[in-house]
Amino acid sequence: MLNFKKILVTGGAGFIGSHVVRRFVLNYKQYHIYNLDTLTYAGNLENLKDVEKCSNYTFVKGDINDIEFVNELFMKFNFDGVIHLAAESHVDRSIANPLTFVKTNVIGTMNLLNAANDLWKKDYTNKRFYHISTDEVYGSLGEKGLFTELSPFAPNSPYSASKASSNHFVRAYGETYGLPYVITNCSNNYGPNHFPEKLIPLFINNIMNNKSLPVYGDGNYTRDWLYVEDHAKAIDLVFHKGKNHETYNVGGFNEWRNIELVKVLCKLMDKKLKRPSGSSEALITFVKDRPGHDLRYAIDATKINEELGWKPEVTFEEGLEKTVNWYLENQEWLNNVVCGDYLNYYKKQYQ
Ligand code: NAD
Ligand code: DAU
Repeated sequence: MLNFKKILVTGGAGFIGSHVVRRFVLNYKQYHIYNLDTLTYAGNLENLKDVEKCSNYTFVKGDINDIEFVNELFMKFNFDGVIHLAAESHVDRSIANPLTFVKTNVIGTMNLLNAANDLWKKDYTNKRFYHISTDEVYGSLGEKGLFTELSPFAPNSPYSASKASSNHFVRAYGETYGLPYVITNCSNNYGPNHFPEKLIPLFINNIMNNKSLPVYGDGNYTRDWLYVEDHAKAIDLVFHKGKNHETYNVGGFNEWRNIELVKVLCKLMDKKLKRPSGSSEALITFVKDRPGHDLRYAIDATKINEELGWKPEVTFEEGLEKTVNWYLENQEWLNNVVCGDYLNYYKKQYQ
């Protein structure tokens, strides 16, 4: 198991990043965790209120696209580990503004790779660059089959193309310069602190507000859902015990067609809100499909299971209930993010 002193987590104020930061700050008191985040619409320091005063945690506001800032940061703090999550992460936004995705997801990743490599190249011992990638780089599956680590890349959206590109650059830095890296490609996460532009939190928020539930196309698209804390556990394990220059797929063994998932969510929301059965389902509206919409994602997570002993621990039933409870108990968090820019985005996307 590798040991670290100073770990840079990028994008730690976002959905997955905040769960990773909390896990590392609380479980590894011997490490100092630096959370670098520029706080886009998706970054929210409220996500980390409970750990912000911990002595082994520092928040740094900054942009991974700013090359000078990134270089200075690496020189100043001398990180020995990087867990890179910062990204533009929403497919629909990438269709509207692809260049933003190239900047952050490709150039931003390049800036981090260069800074890490410059700092570490004299001695790569006990150093690690961990890139958090996605199953979307593999493109779309048909009705059958699973993505393995050997599946070819075939990204279909500007988001997944930008993530495929950064994924390739990380690998190339390993092959060309010897940079010690690990990569994971994970399926759809869900859980607390998820920004309400993504399917599950968007629909929870809309049901709470009696707004329509915009299901794209015929709703027969399939995703493999993983509770966010199970992903954070996988990240912890791969960071400490994964083999250099290896990729691990991470998934929930939990495939759902969108329309079936939405119906389960509607039933749960009716129960939680004590509304007559069928009230939430009546909000379902089939809307224009997402361009380039991938039919199905499903992960074969055998490698991480057999080599590192990881498997998802939270069942979908438990995870969905925990998620819904969190949104019902954190309406202030929701109200704070669904204002201003969000309303403009919503209008443009769903008008
Ligand atoms: P998110 O959008 O919730 O959070 C992204 C974070 O990155 C935000 O805090 C944002 O402020 C920060 N950020 C964006 N641009 C930045 C910049 N230029 N400089 C510094 N910080 C910046 O995303 P998420 O859903 O938590 O995803 C995190 C990572 O995991 C991403 O790399 C994403 O591609 C990957 N991933 C996500 C999922 C998923 O289901 N959400 C699944 C697999 C992989
Ligand atoms: O697979 C991993 C990826 O999962 C991550 O890399 C991305 O960062 C993350 O956003 C997520 O991408 P998806 O596009 O799968 O997630 P999203 O929640 O946007 O959509 C899930 C499914 O629901 C997809 O088939 C599109 C559909 N959908 C989504 C929205 C927002 C709808 O039908 N209506 C909607 O309004």
